[in-house]
Amino acid sequence: MAQKLIIANWKMFPTKPAEAKRIFSGIQKGVSKVRGAQTVVCPPYVFLPELAKLAKGGKVKLGVQDLFYEESGAFTGQVSPAMASAYKATWAILGHSERRALGESNELVGRKVRYTIQQGYTAVLCVGERGRSEDGEYYTFIRTELEAVFSGLRRKDLERLVIAYEPIWAIGKRAEEAMQTRDLMEMTLFIKKILTERFGRKPAERVRILYGGSVKPNNAAELVHEGGVDGLLVGSASLDVRQFLEILNVAAAA
Ligand code: PGA
Repeated sequence: MAQKLIIANWKMFPTKPAEAKRIFSGIQKGVSKVRGAQTVVCPPYVFLPELAKLAKGGKVKLGVQDLFYEESGAFTGQVSPAMASAYKATWAILGHSERRALGESNELVGRKVRYTIQQGYTAVLCVGERGRSEDGEYYTFIRTELEAVFSGLRRKDLERLVIAYEPIWAIGKRAEEAMQTRDLMEMTLFIKKILTERFGRKPAERVRILYGGSVKPNNAAELVHEGGVDGLLVGSASLDVRQFLEILNVAAAA
């Protein structure tokens, strides 16, 4: 059975390095006992140097929450793949809805995904609609977000691509407000269909699809099992060691 991929998105938390180290160590300790799951933690950049030391030789991989599409240059405030990989980051969340809300376009996200993959990272491309209407308009929206990025990718890039479907309306809520698993299954199939249309069946099968949005210990198993996804992108619950380890355990067993 393929391993489930569970990614922690710490967003702009915690505020202190000591707290970041405590959470990371707790996760790492618990993960050593979990089989059937691959774990990636994406902290704020500033914690990478310390967490890279803790991560050495362990099972938990490090990622970041964004990257720029150049190696270096006059780009105030940006961080490049080369800089983060010096601290063992090998994964990058790109196009998260909270960054898109600050102005990132599909075109910009596409550029970042292409460059980041070329630099040897696994890109976790986030897509998701703001809301849902009866007419199913959100399918067109998701198609547009995906195709904007796919147009610049080669088949072999797909080995380093993960798609995180995160409906914006389901982010940052209680477990009960996460997506219904039947709706998730439909969306998972739709994303697979678009991938297959564009790249062919075999290459498309290599792309893992995750769900994100209010994943908690009490909904993780059904989301994975009935939603047809390969794993989860976890926000707030990933800052709570106990909750995150529970999610890992139930997802791995699903
Ligand atoms: P949440 O965040 O789990 O807190 O809803 C998920 C995300 O935004 O990646």
